[in-house]
Amino acid sequence: MEKFFATCPRGLERVLAAELAQLGADSVQAVDGGVGFAGELATCYAINLESRVASRVLWRVGESGYRSEHDVYEAARAIEWPRWFSPKHTIRVNVAAIRSPVKSLDFVTLRVKDAVCDVFRTARGERPHVDTRSPDVRVHVFLTRDMATFYLDTSGEALFKRGWRNASGAAPLRENLAAGILKLTGWTASTPLLDPMCGSGTFLVEAAMMALDAAPGLGRGFGFEKLTNFDSKAWAILLERARTRRRNSHPLLIHGSDKSGSALKLARDNLAAAGLEGAVHLKQKDILDGGPPAAGGIIVMNPPYGERLADRDELAAFYPKLGDVLKQRYSGWTAYILTADLRLAKLIGLAASKRTPLYNGALECRLFEFKLVAGSMRRSKRDA
Ligand SMILES: C[S@@+](CC[C@H](N)C(=O)[O-])C[C@H]1O[C@@H](n2cnc3c(N)ncnc32)[C@H](O)[C@@H]1O
Repeated sequence: MEKFFATCPRGLERVLAAELAQLGADSVQAVDGGVGFAGELATCYAINLESRVASRVLWRVGESGYRSEHDVYEAARAIEWPRWFSPKHTIRVNVAAIRSPVKSLDFVTLRVKDAVCDVFRTARGERPHVDTRSPDVRVHVFLTRDMATFYLDTSGEALFKRGWRNASGAAPLRENLAAGILKLTGWTASTPLLDPMCGSGTFLVEAAMMALDAAPGLGRGFGFEKLTNFDSKAWAILLERARTRRRNSHPLLIHGSDKSGSALKLARDNLAAAGLEGAVHLKQKDILDGGPPAAGGIIVMNPPYGERLADRDELAAFYPKLGDVLKQRYSGWTAYILTADLRLAKLIGLAASKRTPLYNGALECRLFEFKLVAGSMRRSKRDA
């Protein structure tokens, strides 16, 4: 068995651990920022193809104690890199650290790159070149206070890049964060789902793919395909299984709306690019107007996050109205609102039944859960 580490948006580690166990990973262990697991390479291929929550799957190829940059160089120099790639491949080295005593991560990056190249020069007489934009092979180094761990990135491009996004909207959610939130809500395809601020449609695409049992990685390539030990037969079997399993698109209980026509067009284009035409009901609509598309279900949304002061004032005025609309017209629904604006919790005037800390990239957010039950939700002025 090989050892792996799958990274994910912070806050989703436990959701990812459950997903990986379901996908056949062994010895699954959630830690901050990701999940360690053991498995065969074919399991790693399957996880790259099927995981909706992982950002990358890293394959552990070496580990060593260290005290200095030079120790890290020596540890990297001791790894048999030519087992997995050749001097014809381009490489990129990434270094991340927690409580490491080294002074410069850039310098460690350079030294690890030197070590990899020195191994090849000695073994093959030539060295791989660096390509920081789209390398064939990515080497990741993780430094703690006294341990350096070396990984080969089996994903290549981050897994939230599913291959369907046409152009980015103003602030699209990362696909794996959207999928993780859907899993946190417990939503299943037999329940109506509504994103009333759908923007580019990230929640809608991810939900529809879940409902149709579509593997998120069917439309893209992976880093492991470039490695010299790539098992193309095992991969072909996994791909074939995922392709035959995917159900044909048909109208689902998934609804998206947005007040902006251009956002809606973006959502429509993204759904089409993901092969989901006709699967999702789209409507141009202000959340403050009209009512819900069904008697009950799950609402997920990610309101604009005001960076400019004027936007922030506008949002502060918007939250109480949103709270009133949800309370008055959406009883029977449970709403999940992801925001980095912590004023929302007070200003919306509804009592949150859950608050989950999550990160959208580096941005700290909360996912608030509001159970919209007629009559009982209004928070008294005294509590607010
Ligand atoms: C942060 S974006 C949502 C991004 C989306 N989750 C995605 O992944 O692309 C917020 C969206 O809310 C929409 N919006 C703002 N106010 C609205 C309102 N009152 N009713 C409906 N949509 C609104 C904006 O047009 C924008 O597309």
